[in-house]
Amino acid sequence: MALRLFSKRATTALRMPRSSAIAPAAFRSYASSATKEASLPNADPAADSQTTRLVNDQIPYMVPTYVRPPPMFQKGQGCYLWDIENRQYLDFTAGIAVNALGHCDPEMAKIMAEQAQTLIHTSNLYYNPWTGALSKLIVEKTVEAGGMHTASKTFICNSGSEANEAAIKFARKVGKSLDPSGAKHEFVSFHSSFHGRTMGSLSATPNPKYQKPFSPMVPGFRYGTYNDVDAIPDLVTKDTCGVIIEPIQGEGGVNVATTEFLTALRKRCTEVGAVLIYDEIQSGLGRTGQLWAHAALPKEAHPDILTTAKALGNGFPIGATIVNEDVVTKIAPGDHGTTFGGNPLACRLAHYIVNRLADKELQQGVLKKEQIFRKHFEKLQQRFPEVITEVRGKGLILGLQLSQDPTPVITAARERGLLIITCGTNTLRFVPPLVISEKEIEEGMRILEEAMNVVFKKQEPVPGTKGQEEMQES
Ligand SMILES: Cc1ncc(COP(=O)(O)O)c(C=O)c1O
Repeated sequence: MALRLFSKRATTALRMPRSSAIAPAAFRSYASSATKEASLPNADPAADSQTTRLVNDQIPYMVPTYVRPPPMFQKGQGCYLWDIENRQYLDFTAGIAVNALGHCDPEMAKIMAEQAQTLIHTSNLYYNPWTGALSKLIVEKTVEAGGMHTASKTFICNSGSEANEAAIKFARKVGKSLDPSGAKHEFVSFHSSFHGRTMGSLSATPNPKYQKPFSPMVPGFRYGTYNDVDAIPDLVTKDTCGVIIEPIQGEGGVNVATTEFLTALRKRCTEVGAVLIYDEIQSGLGRTGQLWAHAALPKEAHPDILTTAKALGNGFPIGATIVNEDVVTKIAPGDHGTTFGGNPLACRLAHYIVNRLADKELQQGVLKKEQIFRKHFEKLQQRFPEVITEVRGKGLILGLQLSQDPTPVITAARERGLLIITCGTNTLRFVPPLVISEKEIEEGMRILEEAMNVVFKKQEPVPGTKGQEEMQES
């Protein structure tokens, strides 16, 4: 349906307002760029474009939690998106590491339609065939892939933040069971981490920009330095009930935890009876070339709880918290729940997606594609030695550390048909669909090089860059 509408004239699918009564300043500042560089293939929409009129008509009704660049996307297929002016963009962002199978995977669309005609929701008051099937599949595939060898049961929810909320609550309950006085309630997380926006997951995300407006945080959270092995004994104590960490920090700048650090953390958690939680919401489900990033670690570094979301639904909202038997024995009926979580539609889709992402061939492909990216990064580094200071990451979660603000590069790339995001401090983040082809990587890297040439060689100002820093946030 969407395809048919689009192929005619994309904009007919949406009703365009005749005039823009309200033109928010943030949007106008982007739109003005088009007049200056009209020759660009995907120049940001002009002030008098259909896009600008439509955005200006809608924006007054949207809570302003996001600052977005000007294009409005209407259709996706594989690794490409099309805006409402029917311009094509290669997508290196995959909806922030979500669309691992690309946009609108045909089999996923078929399953969605079929299940939508069969059963969408019954609540958790009743069994359905898919919540349990997905829970079983996740546990089996995790163990089979060499991940969390103690994985036993799964709790299904709707998002990454919720998966972490469940993990935090479960760890608190374990702490209460081990020490009924309540003293064992402290939580440890790490600087530059990102665990979500709900109060519990936000309390584990020590970024003043996110926390300060909503303080006070949930009590009992302490923050350590990522990869600082020596600090672990003082950080994780007998009062710690849980430690949450991303094996690869996504939002924080594509920082990879060392095996030594995670092994030491595991050892200390076991010593003091704290639950170790790996947040693989961004790094998991094939993105590193293994089902889980932590599957590359020895068993001595495996967690007690593992959280996932993002690619689990390939864009359909779903999250999951995987726990071991030590945790399970402390959880009783009524301790936690969700109305939508585990609905048959989401779970059937995720069942299909997990099977696809657990495929060894797909994972091998991810590692090959990493090499193609790295080859191009090397070339770029030689060309811009002062600008590109480091390449980080694994598989298809890669970061290019720049010595300066990457915002103009993001804009220049978008206006040439490539979508790319940032993270951390001045880091370009590469999290494309895992199904991306070699040809598409080559195409994207050609555009990126051109964008960098424009920004760093010619030193031409790139207009319309305001607000791009917000694009790294989910
Ligand atoms: C590592 C990590 N944890 C948690 C979250 C929060 O997930 P969600 O936005 O689905 O709530 C994110 C989102 O970017 C993430 O990258």
